[in-house]
Amino acid sequence: MQSNDHAPRPLAARREGALAGRARVPGDKSISHRAFLFGGLAAGTTRIRGLLEGEDVLATGRAMAAMGARMRKDGDVWIVGGVGNGALLEPPGVLDFGNAGTGARLTMGLVGPYDFGATFVGDASLSRRPMGRVLDPLRLMGVQVVARTGDRLPLSIRGPRVAAPIVYRVPMASAQVKSAVLLAGLNAPGTTTVIEPVATRDHTEKMLQGFGASLEVTIDAEGARHIALEGQGPLRAVEELTVPGDPSSAAFPLVAALIVPGSDVVIENVLMNPTRTGLIETLLEMGASIDVANRRQEGGEDVADLHVRHSRLTGVTVPPERAPSMIDEYPVLAIAAAFAEGTTVMQGLDELRVKESDRLSAVAKGLEVNGISHVEGEDSLTVTGRPDGRGLGGGQVETHLDHRIAMSFLVLGMASEKPVTVDDARMIATSFPEFETMMTGLGAMLEPAR
Ligand code: S3P
Repeated sequence: MQSNDHAPRPLAARREGALAGRARVPGDKSISHRAFLFGGLAAGTTRIRGLLEGEDVLATGRAMAAMGARMRKDGDVWIVGGVGNGALLEPPGVLDFGNAGTGARLTMGLVGPYDFGATFVGDASLSRRPMGRVLDPLRLMGVQVVARTGDRLPLSIRGPRVAAPIVYRVPMASAQVKSAVLLAGLNAPGTTTVIEPVATRDHTEKMLQGFGASLEVTIDAEGARHIALEGQGPLRAVEELTVPGDPSSAAFPLVAALIVPGSDVVIENVLMNPTRTGLIETLLEMGASIDVANRRQEGGEDVADLHVRHSRLTGVTVPPERAPSMIDEYPVLAIAAAFAEGTTVMQGLDELRVKESDRLSAVAKGLEVNGISHVEGEDSLTVTGRPDGRGLGGGQVETHLDHRIAMSFLVLGMASEKPVTVDDARMIATSFPEFETMMTGLGAMLEPAR
């Protein structure tokens, strides 16, 4: 049979025995994007180990190569020759980011202030997502934008002769917006300051400091973070950059092991940065058996191995303040909640509406077709569980080009009484190409469906 990348690939998960064994999840997606962006920008050669070779990250790599960075692979190591801060070249063609919001938005910030034109395109999912949140601060810096109404892709930007540094208070909890403004500030004279009332993942700040940028973080009396970056300074390559395992990918085998009876799994080398560990905190409150073992430092970040056993879970209320540290994990938390005793309430979910899909609605519909009791609010989700999984499953889930919807509902099918089918598994390759082999290696049953 010929493979056809343009046709959806339905996939089903059915309940088998317990999951057991050790697994190593791929590199963190957020850090991998930034490794290509900053390595491609900094003068000298950056060597990257553990990079996530998902389609999203590779799209960022191609964009940096189109603007002059040199990328090659030697064994397991990516070797990136950077152009030097301020020295990107005008891309000869459009920059195609596929499904990748992080790649598109961060690159928009990075090239925004350059006095050349750049055109951004993406797939149907990315072309529906709001870009105004990044374009608005760029406009304040003098960047011109030609876009469809509503600031969606495809769009073109062109920087001014000299960009204006700004002080920008990020209006929503978004690490992508924060990062885009900081990256634009790299090529503006003087100090660009981002004020972040609610802390989000801090990889841009930490990594830019590692690449030698002059960047300072202070916290004001209200608890808001002020991130001040000196523009137009040199960036130096990082000789050895190691990307830790992605906690947002670890979330899938983690929840699967918690809900499939008898499971006992170790997930190795997971990033434990506190801006990313909200799911683990929530699952522990629900009574999950997760031992955080072998804590150590890797690539300037805390990492650990997670030893997870099947657990009796109890519903909890997840407060809105926790949303930034587990923003990508709500779909799979909803699956854990479907197996918890009682009700789980998730609040502060407004940002889920603008992810790869409207994730709140996609999760609610998936729960509905699989017989899981829930209530979808404007920015909240309430799920009432069924610990034995009796009567659950049997649905065909629409994934709307969203990798995390696909993986979450496949995890459901590993524990529900009836199998679960997702309409398209192709998007899983954007963030977790090894998902199917890893899960079947632990004992899960996944099979092509119609
Ligand atoms: C990311 C930030 C988050 C997250 C995304 C990755 C990043 O998006 O959902 O998967 O790498 O900065 P928002 O900034 O839109 O919340």
